[in-house]
Amino acid sequence: MSDLDLRGKRVLIREDLNVPIENGRITSTQRLDAALPTIVAARDAGARVMVMSHLGRPKEGQFDGESSLAPVAKWLGGKLGRPVRLVRDYLDGVDVADGEVVLLENCRMNVGEGKDDEALARKYAALCDVFVMDAFGTAHRAQASTHGVIKYAPVAAAGPLLSAELDALGKALEHPAHPLLAIVAGSKVSTKLILLENLTAKVDQLIVGGGIANTFIAAAGYGVGNSLYEPDLLDAARQVMADARRRNAEVPLPVDVVVAPEFSAHAPATVKPVDQVKDGEMILDIGPETARRYAGLIGKAGTVVWNGPVGVFEFDAFAKGTETLARAIAASRAFSIAGGGDTLAAVDKFGIEKDVSYISTGGGAFLEFLEGKELPAVAALKARAGR
Ligand code: 3PG
Repeated sequence: MSDLDLRGKRVLIREDLNVPIENGRITSTQRLDAALPTIVAARDAGARVMVMSHLGRPKEGQFDGESSLAPVAKWLGGKLGRPVRLVRDYLDGVDVADGEVVLLENCRMNVGEGKDDEALARKYAALCDVFVMDAFGTAHRAQASTHGVIKYAPVAAAGPLLSAELDALGKALEHPAHPLLAIVAGSKVSTKLILLENLTAKVDQLIVGGGIANTFIAAAGYGVGNSLYEPDLLDAARQVMADARRRNAEVPLPVDVVVAPEFSAHAPATVKPVDQVKDGEMILDIGPETARRYAGLIGKAGTVVWNGPVGVFEFDAFAKGTETLARAIAASRAFSIAGGGDTLAAVDKFGIEKDVSYISTGGGAFLEFLEGKELPAVAALKARAGR
């Protein structure tokens, strides 16, 4: 986008302004903060700026007040120092003055958005002289506003946020400073199996946490009591460990864990060796010795990719493992990248935003990139550029 002369041009910018809103109040502005510089740059270049985004997953073909971008328009107006019009009917054209910014109502209310309808994509394209794809968080969706429009817009370009995300992820995974250490945690191996397989081929160390670690612990032959784990995926976990060994990558397992008799903030927490978990106990965090060892690995890493907290960090008694790793990432000189909703909540809770080299705005898009998948919006931009 920065290479284009935008003065007087109708510029349609697809952002991911899909932010959490409770009772009309935006509860996290992280995605808005990340998108704002792109919008300001286009405005300052004298463009007629139309910003487009989805919010939630409303039904197509009807207006849904709950999914309205009105709170976002208000937020943008506050930041830009001038009210931002929220335009509801825009498919047949929008009047925008040079240097003005308008917000188009939730594009997922348009019929055909979800299935990447060609007629709708052509309508979006007809709104503008230049289409800027900047929504990294939605780049894994092949929809009319993220994919189809790229084919038909007079000019289509990647925006600065999308470019920055791809650069940071590329730096972390394609040209990493070694050792490359990944932390992958979450409730289920099944949702992150492709990710684990893809990372095993790249990383020097893979730290697993949460329900994923429990499945690995069970696969290593230890009891996990009542912990969340996936008995059907023990072989898959063994395969990941065997692949890692073949490549000389380490998949360290916890040596100690924090257990409780139930999943609750007030359940009594007990630290014990990993081979002593009893029936009826649940593993809710890594133990202090494990956290110390993992922090040591992070301290020696050249690159750290973080997706998922290693314990139930929302409950203070089970937050220490995640906190220790978060602080180790913050203190390390590694290039670090964090992404995913729970991970960002942990980054927020431990106040380390400024100490992580790059915080991704992507949830599903971040994961798909780490899985090694090509993001449809990025593929469309490349095809358009003949690359
Ligand atoms: C996200 O929150 O991950 C993106 O905005 C994509 O939203 P979606 O999963 O509803 O497509």
